[in-house]
Amino acid sequence: MVNLDWKNLPFGYIKTNYNVRCYYRNGKWGELEISSSETIDIHMAATSLHYGQEAFEGLKAYMGKDGRIRLFRVEENAKRMAATATYIRMAQPPLDLFVKAVKTVVSLNKEFVPPYESGASLYIRPLLIVVGAQVGVKASTEFLLLIFVTPVGPYYKQGLSPIDAIIERLSDRAAPLGTGHIKVGGNYAASLPAQDRAHDLGYAVSIYLDAREKKYIDEAGTANFFGIKNNTYVTPNSHSILPSITNMSLIQLAEHLGMKVERRQIPVEELPAFEETGACGTAAVISPFNKIDDVENNKSYSYCKDCKPGPVCIKLYENLTGIQYGNLPDIFNWVTFVD
Ligand code: PLP
Ligand code: COI
Repeated sequence: MVNLDWKNLPFGYIKTNYNVRCYYRNGKWGELEISSSETIDIHMAATSLHYGQEAFEGLKAYMGKDGRIRLFRVEENAKRMAATATYIRMAQPPLDLFVKAVKTVVSLNKEFVPPYESGASLYIRPLLIVVGAQVGVKASTEFLLLIFVTPVGPYYKQGLSPIDAIIERLSDRAAPLGTGHIKVGGNYAASLPAQDRAHDLGYAVSIYLDAREKKYIDEAGTANFFGIKNNTYVTPNSHSILPSITNMSLIQLAEHLGMKVERRQIPVEELPAFEETGACGTAAVISPFNKIDDVENNKSYSYCKDCKPGPVCIKLYENLTGIQYGNLPDIFNWVTFVD
């Protein structure tokens, strides 16, 4: 294992040994290639650079107490990348190719998988871009699927610490019938002004509202939103949020733990009714909200006593990470081992 300060890793880029690449040319995918280069050769007229025709994914590999490396629901990331690719008119990487590429890149970089209980994991970043030349706004024919990995610490502070959120009323990350439901780079570029504003005002994350009416909760930065009340897990149903694999898993876990689940619009006025709220995602895992401020309306909603996570967030976190790290049985068949 390489020598890194595993307990204090940022959520950032650290060079590893290898990445994997696969080109789509002449209507078909080629062989998986292993590379140790950190750069790519891309035509200056590639439409990824001009028109944001680019799809990406994010998932993690976890080192278990048993010394085995686990991927969490990798097929779901494959399906979501295929959905993104279809929408922005790119070739879909077949599910088998995607899974094989992820397993290969993790296996090649085993020494970068953070040790069990370091609070860190190996972040896997699949990228699908156009490499051929094109100047008109139209579908391309040459693509590159590239997957690199980097060891990361938690996205928001350490482990399950509650964070402060601000409701974003000055911008939207995606239009009502736009690209919020797929994982394209432009959504994240569009979220930077809100993120800067949140950080400047001392908040960890912005909560977006529906772009049409500004009435309902959409999602939280790079994570989905959930609220807990009366033994019910409530999460927004909106076309402009990314279908989070973590959220999908928490829904199943909540039901398994005997909770009710509601997927529906959540009006801002409902915020005071929740006992707990939080953000969930691969990077964020479960990040409970300590408070949510609606600055423009001079309102603040608090959820934590002494900034401690609530009992339902703790229970969901333990069940989710228990499966990811192999401490609990994989009852839903979510885990893929990497040898
Ligand atoms: N919402 C957005 C905008 C995201 O970027 C992510 C991260 O991928 C999520 C939600 C959480 O999705 P997942 O749980 O699949 O990581
Ligand atoms: C993820 O949770 O994987 C993300 O989307 C994080 C990210 C965009 C930094």
